[in-house]
Amino acid sequence: MWGGRFAEGPSAIMREINASIPFDKALWRQDIAASKAHVAMLGACGIVSGEDAVAIADGLDRVAAEYEANGVPENWDLEDIHMTTENRLAELIGPAAGRLHTARSRNDQVATDFRLWVRDAMDQTDAGLAALSRALVARAEEHADTIMPGFTHLQTAQPVTLGHHLLAYYEMIRRDRSRFADARVRMNESPLGSAALAGTGFPIDREMTAQALDFARPTANSLDSVSDRDFAIDFLQAASQCALHLSRLAEEFVIWASQPFGFVRMPDTLSTGSSIMPQKKNPDAAELVRGHSGRILGCATALMVTMKGLPLAYSKDMQDDKPPVFEAANLLGLSIAAMTGMVADATFRTDRMRQAAELGYATATDLADWLVRQADIPFREAHHITGTAVRLAESRGIALDELTLDDLTAIDARIDDRVYAALSVEASVAARRSHGGTAPDQVRKQVALARAALEND
Ligand code: ARG
Repeated sequence: MWGGRFAEGPSAIMREINASIPFDKALWRQDIAASKAHVAMLGACGIVSGEDAVAIADGLDRVAAEYEANGVPENWDLEDIHMTTENRLAELIGPAAGRLHTARSRNDQVATDFRLWVRDAMDQTDAGLAALSRALVARAEEHADTIMPGFTHLQTAQPVTLGHHLLAYYEMIRRDRSRFADARVRMNESPLGSAALAGTGFPIDREMTAQALDFARPTANSLDSVSDRDFAIDFLQAASQCALHLSRLAEEFVIWASQPFGFVRMPDTLSTGSSIMPQKKNPDAAELVRGHSGRILGCATALMVTMKGLPLAYSKDMQDDKPPVFEAANLLGLSIAAMTGMVADATFRTDRMRQAAELGYATATDLADWLVRQADIPFREAHHITGTAVRLAESRGIALDELTLDDLTAIDARIDDRVYAALSVEASVAARRSHGGTAPDQVRKQVALARAALEND
């Protein structure tokens, strides 16, 4: 494809280090689509004859059909998907194939193909996240009244509802989706027609190719167009943040599935056994989601470090942009699907959650709040009185509401028997009906809002 200037061919090591076809063949659909848009434009603008444009477009369809049926052949001498396709086109239609690359370079070609691929990946990711969101909201509605301990520092803090806890993840995923959506808007410009770096002297119509490929407009600067990989980095950064959320959810499942917690029974379909310990059911899928998040973050780091310090415009380093993006998209897709299955099919052990919520003096804040409200005691003083009550209960190994009224009035005379109503875990969660709070009413309200948002997707 470029041999004219050379007396000798590339060495074996040059061929090997240069070949991107083993991975960039994943771009074949985008490469065919972009070439078809390009040649239709060349025909419309009178840069190639109508006859050649049709022959090339038909030939590209035949190449696509071959790829579909037999896969993309991997010949290192042809370097990449762009040369592989053009070479096959020439075999099929003859010299007219050589007109396809008029007013185009592999630099704008690969920038275009890769944008199209990343745009598809963003759309697929969003569809996966929408399904995960629906699963979270469905389980949240089912468990709007289920009481569990809420933690800070992984120490029992206050009772919360399981529905509220699940909706916290819905919010994270909602932000992830908006990050992908932002990135999609920003990247949806067509680099095609930027040619090698400086644009072209041929009278091309970049609006036409942009439109044909569903881009909002052509990019504004040809140098930027062939050197920009922000869209891939945006994808990887959004993917990293999303993976980090999935990892936190996975981690909660791992903890909850452990025997001392026993909050959840993992679906058999997303667990594995042990080859030596017959009783084991391990949360491997959750652990792998946690692990994959590290790899996804590594992919983002890899591409940022590759791009750092590259002078304008294209440098071959940029060929290394694809493996981390392909890897991250694959790992993220698997992670989203695994977590969707886990959320949808896990059995929440509401009895165990409820028991655990009763432990650890989770309603101590409610006692302090009661003192503030009923006896008009400043919160700091109420905090101190409550701390004394907790210390007494702990020394006897009993719960707060197992202290007698005499015990309590001995600590502070302003306490009366109405306090017991405030000390149950039900009263505790029901009281927290501030906007976004854990009360079942609030959870149902947030579920309704989430459902409405998901319907408008
Ligand atoms: N395969 C290359 C890539 O993925 C595109 C080719 C650009 N090559 C070049 N010599 N300018 O980045």
